[in-house]
Amino acid sequence: MNEMARWPMTGDVVLVPTMGALHEGHRELIRTGKTLAKEEGTLIVSIYVNPTQFNDTEDFKSYPKTFEQDYELCREEDVDLIFYPSDSEMYSGRESVSVTEKKLTQHLCGATRQGHFDGVCSVVTKLFNIIKPTTAVFGKKDYQQLAIIKQLVSDLNFSIEIIGAETTREQDGLAISSRNRFLSTEERKQSSAIHEALVAMTLNPEKQCSELITLGKSIIESEAPLSRIDYLEIVDRQTMEPIQTIDRPALAAVAIFLGNTRLIDNIEINSL
Ligand code: PAJ
Repeated sequence: MNEMARWPMTGDVVLVPTMGALHEGHRELIRTGKTLAKEEGTLIVSIYVNPTQFNDTEDFKSYPKTFEQDYELCREEDVDLIFYPSDSEMYSGRESVSVTEKKLTQHLCGATRQGHFDGVCSVVTKLFNIIKPTTAVFGKKDYQQLAIIKQLVSDLNFSIEIIGAETTREQDGLAISSRNRFLSTEERKQSSAIHEALVAMTLNPEKQCSELITLGKSIIESEAPLSRIDYLEIVDRQTMEPIQTIDRPALAAVAIFLGNTRLIDNIEINSL
């Protein structure tokens, strides 16, 4: 940590927080960061698999750790600094303070993954305080996380600009995720139904949200029979509250299980 304070930072300090297992989605985020940092700035990628945001210890244990490849990707993208702390550097084990967001977390992943966003908010607060970036980049792939981080920065007066980057997808529309590697060949084939369903839901924004949700669910159920839907909702993009009609900037958000793998995705829907 003290090493961080001694590191010479020039210009804008742009942070891309990650849990490693870096893929093309992360690469795009890093490229966005590089553009924001400009020639004179400092681009930092943090790699830390944060235990406090996992509600399932199995999921935590099986989280892929690929530091050598991550290092290589960061080198290719001309990252200035990788922040790669150990657990004991991040947590003393005597913590009694955590950061809780109370409204946006009531919905979507917050409703089904108890304590997950407390872990995210707390570790991101720690990263912000250790690294002291001027800008941080988060992906829209985790739209609720992005909205919560924006709220955190606003409510706790961090002087950090939060940038949301678009979701990077495979050719067939599947959002790239470090969890995709756990899909069997058949599950991988069926997983393209997620994006297909989301796109279909954007085509008739004049319809009631309940109709759009029924449409989306029917596509997933017919195209991905191996899947189990955790949620498929249409929410207000700012508050994450479910809405009945698309009368404001909206978000269709989905979480599904394909076998034991939980995948999330979303798409913005604008009113006519
Ligand atoms: P992680 O899942 O590694 O994601 C790091 C960042 O990459 C997040 O901002 C996420 O939204 C973004 N990302 C992942 N897949 C993407 C894709 N296909 N397209 C665009 N962006 C993508 O999110 C976390 O780590 C953690 O919760 C973290 C914020 C690091 C806190 O521990």
